Amino acid sequence: MLSYRHAFHAGNYADVVKHLILNLIMESLCKKESPFCYLETHAGTGFYDLSSEFAEKTGEFKEGIQLLWRLPEAVIHPLATTYMRTLRAFNPGQNLNTYLGSPAFARHFLRPHDAMNLMELHPQDVELLKNSFKKDKQVHIHQRDGFEGLIALVPPKEKRGLVLIDPSYELKQDYLQVVETLKLAHKRWQQGIYAVWYPLLNGLPQEAMLKKLANSGIKKILVVELSREASHTPRAMYGTGMVIINPPYQLEEKLQALLPWLWKLLSPQAEGKWRVEWLVGE
Ligand SMILES: C[S@@+](CC[C@H](N)C(=O)[O-])C[C@H]1O[C@@H](n2cnc3c(N)ncnc32)[C@H](O)[C@@H]1O
Repeated sequence: MLSYRHAFHAGNYADVVKHLILNLIMESLCKKESPFCYLETHAGTGFYDLSSEFAEKTGEFKEGIQLLWRLPEAVIHPLATTYMRTLRAFNPGQNLNTYLGSPAFARHFLRPHDAMNLMELHPQDVELLKNSFKKDKQVHIHQRDGFEGLIALVPPKEKRGLVLIDPSYELKQDYLQVVETLKLAHKRWQQGIYAVWYPLLNGLPQEAMLKKLANSGIKKILVVELSREASHTPRAMYGTGMVIINPPYQLEEKLQALLPWLWKLLSPQAEGKWRVEWLVGE
């Protein structure tokens, strides 16, 4: 039984970091004319109303996207401008009413010859997702388990592209399943880019996942983490992380430049830290 609803968390600082990285990867994919495929295992609903009772209840976006939204355009980091421009396209006035989920950001980059496959299991959220992209022939939505669905869908016929794996980690086995799924998918499609989101939690379940990944035999794995507080504080999630397998050319350098700026903004008490490091090199 799935109880996680992303609408409670949309636009929080973890979404901001994840979606900025997504935007940078999509931008890189668009540099070549040949078609690509975007695949997502845990898609959510696509768009989020920040005035909904879900978003208002937690107010998480106030410590995330709202901090960027309030900045004058002139001080936005150049590597965050595409992300902000996309958001502004859906929020033409002064107010930020709609936050975009990963499928909506990714869709923004698709050219007519590119494709998109989204998986989502929650019965209500998959209906909202279908509604977000209705009549859009480039977007294929599957109500199925994203882990097994991914194995069935790779390699895509486009041969290049990005897989975003963004579980809620509601189930403890998700950590292990991420690694097992990556191993199988990578075996079938070695040149694909894979980006996996994970929370930084007290108790450090992410450390075991990273260790297993480091020993998986997969090469070229970049780790990006940002924390806003020290890990010993009682709040469960103290930061956000992402591993990227086969990162595009210069993504590492871009993230090295963007993360300090982001950390300063998202961690007003100057607690926590950030890192961009290779878990496994070439
Ligand atoms: C963190 S949210 C996704 C947010 C989205 N990627 C974004 O950034 O906008 C995780 C989603 O995965 C869905 N989900 C949970 N288990 C799943 C599974 N095994 N397969 C597919 N979707 C699943 C949940 O219903 C939830 O909508």
